[in-house]
Amino acid sequence: MRKKKWADPYIAEHTEFAVQIPNEYKGRWKQLLQTDSLHVEIGMGKGDYLHHMAVANPDTGWIGIEKDHSAAAVALRKLVESTDYDGRNERIIVGDAEQITDWFGAGEIDVIHLNYSDPWPKTYTHKRRLSSKRFLERYRLLLSADGCIRMKTDNKGLFEDSVLYFLENGFTFTEFSVDYRRNPHPEDAITEYENRFMELGQPIYQLCAKRQEAVHETAE
Ligand SMILES: C[S@@+](CC[C@H](N)C(=O)[O-])C[C@H]1O[C@@H](n2cnc3c(N)ncnc32)[C@H](O)[C@@H]1O
Repeated sequence: MRKKKWADPYIAEHTEFAVQIPNEYKGRWKQLLQTDSLHVEIGMGKGDYLHHMAVANPDTGWIGIEKDHSAAAVALRKLVESTDYDGRNERIIVGDAEQITDWFGAGEIDVIHLNYSDPWPKTYTHKRRLSSKRFLERYRLLLSADGCIRMKTDNKGLFEDSVLYFLENGFTFTEFSVDYRRNPHPEDAITEYENRFMELGQPIYQLCAKRQEAVHETAE
């Protein structure tokens, strides 16, 4: 995204929604957002999904993480300029998800959303993928006992590799689709990227992954 000069001052100004020092809320996000269910979208881009879901689910806490300051500022502006919504259950963290364990406590997150994450196709860049082993190890620590990771992507290669990453790191699937939008899912908002792929008629790959122990405990 082209750099927006207004982004950094805007983010610094809107401390009511853009959390400047997320470490301060580690272990206390649910208290801050007055909820007992916390969803975190990593790589929220311009924030359409986050904002739509926060408005539609006011009893759930929604936090978006985005490392691109210009994209994050556009997402923040949607929240600031909402006329019919007070934003009480939505926050934005501008930063690299590499630091996610500094921001959230063990077991604090109920759902992690990975929507159209960058595919990083070259082998030497795979470790930057948000579904790679390095990240899954962190998510595993942060997820609540019954927590899950929801992933959507248009990228077949990323999806196939991610399926292996999840399985190799002790996750199993409770949802799995290679044409997610063939059926209606009105409860799940469409992201900016998703909208483009749907217009092109491309299939959307989707899964929901839970820790294997969680699935076994439920079955027992
Ligand atoms: C392809 S875009 C998808 C945006 C949005 N989720 C959507 O579906 O429209 C991926 C976004 O993830 C962000 N991103 C990638 N790696 C990240 C990281 N480690 N931490 C935070 N954001 C990241 C990028 O800056 C980019 O805005």
